[in-house]
Amino acid sequence: MLKREPSAYEHRLMNTTVVILAAGLGTRMRSKRAKVLHRVGGLALVEHVVHTARAVTDPQRIVVVTGHQADEVEALLAPSGARFARQIEQKGTGHALMCAREKLNAKLDAKSSGLVMVLYGDVPLLARATLEQLRDTQAGSDAAATLITTTLEDPAGYGRVILDPRGNVQSVVEQKAARPEQLLVRLINSGIYCFRAGLLWKHLAEIQPNQASHELYLTDMAEILVRHGHRVQHMHVQDASELLGINTRVELADADRILRARKTRELMLAGVTIERPETVVIDAQVRVGEDTVIEPFARLTGNTVVGEDCRIGQGAILESAALAKRVTVAPYTLIADSRIDPGAHVGPFARLRMDAQVGPEARVGNFVEMKKTRLGAGAKSQHLAYLGDAEIGERVNVGAGTITCNYDGEKKHATKIGAGAFIGSNSTLVAPVEIGEDSYVAAGSVITEAVPAKALALGRARQINKPGWVANRKKKKAARKS
Ligand code: UD1
Ligand code: MG
Repeated sequence: MLKREPSAYEHRLMNTTVVILAAGLGTRMRSKRAKVLHRVGGLALVEHVVHTARAVTDPQRIVVVTGHQADEVEALLAPSGARFARQIEQKGTGHALMCAREKLNAKLDAKSSGLVMVLYGDVPLLARATLEQLRDTQAGSDAAATLITTTLEDPAGYGRVILDPRGNVQSVVEQKAARPEQLLVRLINSGIYCFRAGLLWKHLAEIQPNQASHELYLTDMAEILVRHGHRVQHMHVQDASELLGINTRVELADADRILRARKTRELMLAGVTIERPETVVIDAQVRVGEDTVIEPFARLTGNTVVGEDCRIGQGAILESAALAKRVTVAPYTLIADSRIDPGAHVGPFARLRMDAQVGPEARVGNFVEMKKTRLGAGAKSQHLAYLGDAEIGERVNVGAGTITCNYDGEKKHATKIGAGAFIGSNSTLVAPVEIGEDSYVAAGSVITEAVPAKALALGRARQINKPGWVANRKKKKAARKS
């Protein structure tokens, strides 16, 4: 195949750097936590932005500017492969970009033909397609920069975009600095930009501190570029919800609602029945198979994976749970970091955690707790039990009220129950202990020693009946009174 030189357009695309500004505390959140660490749809705000940025460039060309709780933000994003620049003092969005520049310096030259896209870490709903469109719009034009705008009923809090008679951007005016007639403008700045790298780096240092706040506003770049005779254009996006900037907890909840709705819609279109989609909470990464039914108020979070033909009952909570096909989770059951095999039934009101494993066609019923325990194929524990650190074989029946005493106050110990064993109701299994295959444990036993295979173990006081005892007592009482 002939190798040809990339066109100027392709060259710009190849040289796209994304800078994500995420150093602010977010005073309006009224939180000890840096704003970009707050979560919506199961991910931190800034994680959403990094995912979106991946649509237009490689991870090593993404630079995240961190400041407030920088260590935490960087630790969270490190797996993405993004790089970081620190902004020690938060002197505004323009200053933040200057900090990123220092990080990029080695690779930059003022003549660079590439693109620099700037995203704000608090704008999490942007669609990948929109970002691609922004890049293509800028790359295919003669403009110095393109910024994404939208029109809002209530533009309060956002920077207003002032256009010239030709429809090009003249300036961006921040809410605080806007004159009364500018406040009426409903065309707002989304905080998502695509610059020609060369022009951006050449003129960035010209941003002057804002008179009111003394911050360096990146938004001043529009006016600066225009002053130098360049054209700045805007790309108007219809769906304003994509551009929601999160500054308060109210907006945080709004964004969460939008992301949850997107997720349930995506799952429904992929063949999942969701009975009352507005009531369920499903994280972005969760996967659900076809013909599964999700009842109202279920919550599926983390890396939960649900197979086909399952039913997730009302109010069930699945946290990083792995469910195979045909699993039923009855209402109000909590499953965390655990695995359920095909055809198994769990709940209602069961709690499985820390690597519990329920085998194929096994049944776990109400008020059963399982921790680090494996229940074999077809085994049952239908009511009121605590099963911890146990290995339970196939077809075992665990009676109501069975407790594995796995903790001696210092250490945890294991319980092993062989295939086909029958554990009578209200048994207390004091670990470490082993119960042989096909054996029986009598109801109410306290088992402290190994039970051989096929044996019956009785670990309780023998019952004594005293015939006529009631009548005798009455007689004695009467004798005492007289
Ligand atoms: C900004 C824009 C505004 C736009 C809005 C869209 C400016 C001056 N204004 O306002 O025109 O309509 O976003 O949502 O840019 N950050 C830093 N370092 C700083 C300051 C901020 O990294 O010194 C980061 C923040 O962490 C945040 C982002 O930049 O992720 C935006 O900052 P924020 O204070 O929320 O700006 P807005 O007031 O929303
Ligand atoms: Mg903001």
